[in-house]
Amino acid sequence: MIKLIPAPTKILYGEGFFTTEKLTEKASVPEFVLNEMDEFFHASKIGKSLEIISSIQIKLKEKYAYLGNEGYRLTINKSAIIIEALKENGAFYAVQTLKQILFQCGEKIPVMTVEDFPRFKYRGFMLDVGRYFYTVDEVKKFLDLMALHKLNTFHFHLTEDQGWRIEIKKYPLLTQKGSRRSHTNFGFIPRSGFYTQEQIREIVSYAHSKFICVIPEFDIPGHTVSAIACYPYLSCFDRKLKVATHWGVKHDILCAGKESTYKFVFDVLDEIAELFPDGEIHLGGDEAYKMRWNICPRCQAEIKKQGLKDSEELQQFFMSKVNGYLREKGIKTIMWNWDDIEPTKWLDPSIAWNLCGISPEKLPVIKSEMASGRDMIITSSFPYYLDLPYGWINLKFAYEFDPVKGFSDEDMKHIRGIEAPLWTEYVPDMRTAYLKTFPRLGAICETAWTQDENRSWDSFLGKLDFYNDFLSLYGVKGASLKKAMPSKIRAAASSLWFNRRQLHWQGLHNLIDDAVVKRKAK
Ligand code: ACM
Ligand code: ZN
Repeated sequence: MIKLIPAPTKILYGEGFFTTEKLTEKASVPEFVLNEMDEFFHASKIGKSLEIISSIQIKLKEKYAYLGNEGYRLTINKSAIIIEALKENGAFYAVQTLKQILFQCGEKIPVMTVEDFPRFKYRGFMLDVGRYFYTVDEVKKFLDLMALHKLNTFHFHLTEDQGWRIEIKKYPLLTQKGSRRSHTNFGFIPRSGFYTQEQIREIVSYAHSKFICVIPEFDIPGHTVSAIACYPYLSCFDRKLKVATHWGVKHDILCAGKESTYKFVFDVLDEIAELFPDGEIHLGGDEAYKMRWNICPRCQAEIKKQGLKDSEELQQFFMSKVNGYLREKGIKTIMWNWDDIEPTKWLDPSIAWNLCGISPEKLPVIKSEMASGRDMIITSSFPYYLDLPYGWINLKFAYEFDPVKGFSDEDMKHIRGIEAPLWTEYVPDMRTAYLKTFPRLGAICETAWTQDENRSWDSFLGKLDFYNDFLSLYGVKGASLKKAMPSKIRAAASSLWFNRRQLHWQGLHNLIDDAVVKRKAK
């Protein structure tokens, strides 16, 4: 039995084996197939690579429309490997499946047919490069791994309190100064890094070569300390701050009562929009603590001027105004929602939500938002936040979680799919990133891709050894099953370790800082 992750819709086995007797002719497959197969053969050292590649036939035809834009049929007979699909996207996923088959069978592949198409159209992974910078090559590595998991949307979390990572030509300080913090949770070593616009283009083009679209995130109005550190006028009370060193929710956010804030935001978005052609930008909107807005004369004047009730409505007005700016460019927007937003008429229904939590009390609100046209991407922190310890979210829980529980067929029209974010407050390097991400992403990709009726924990468990070996081809060492399914005692210990890490001075810092701002506001 061939093992595949994510499990396909259907596998049918025939009689006999594919054999590569002779090199018939030079391969005439598209460039993306050659690249993918080259990369695989290079890593796997399986022989007869030229013969195998030249046996691949790609047929893109309207008659495969029943498989959808990303589905495919992969037929391996005695003398050929035939890939049929409506679009190249489907053929690309067939190649991903073929890699896993070749990895298990070498040159002796049983005659078989795989028919496959995804459950969700949005299958996302997010990388937080704000807390810790990941190099261009490291980002590409994540894109390679996403493709192997048949994920198609890369959410690139580019701006954070702890670091600004994207070159913006109009505001050079953002990277000259805002990309560097003096120390971190892990000690008194400065950390820095950013992508030039050229490098951003390189990443986007690499993602596209893997049929992955890229959604950049410019997180506003909160999580902007790195920008405020460069341009204090962006904040209420023109605060002079340093790029944040530790994590925690910061109380200094963009001032929503100044025209100059909008000018900055629009200027930055003009440059971002040029670099990311996939038609969608994430505006963050999370953890925007309103203490400053509540006492800022400019924010209060804006609330009055616009006829808003309070600072919460001011944020909804702010997000909608920026959304309106992007809509004029034909760009759609997304924002976070942690169950913490009580949407009013001020929050435009065209802004999609990354839903981080779905409490039963909030389900009616979410449903009514969908009825009004708002799209959702399920990003439930439990189990999709990859940084959270296995002691909180073990592999089985992540696997068995039903992201669309409680939603009707009508609701499903507004659920695009699921996304797993890797937040990096405690993920300073690739080694740690791999331990956190794998094998959990293997479990999550089966929720994203595999039809629900074809999923089972037992079958997934039976594929784990294969999965780990396959990942090791790509230099990835994930958590062992023992770590990913910790005993009660180990779970408690890992939870304790993680909680200890949560202890930081941000609370005290905010308390003192709030007092300073209040005195200044008087
Ligand atoms: C979030 O977890 N800050 C979206
Ligand atoms: Zn203000």
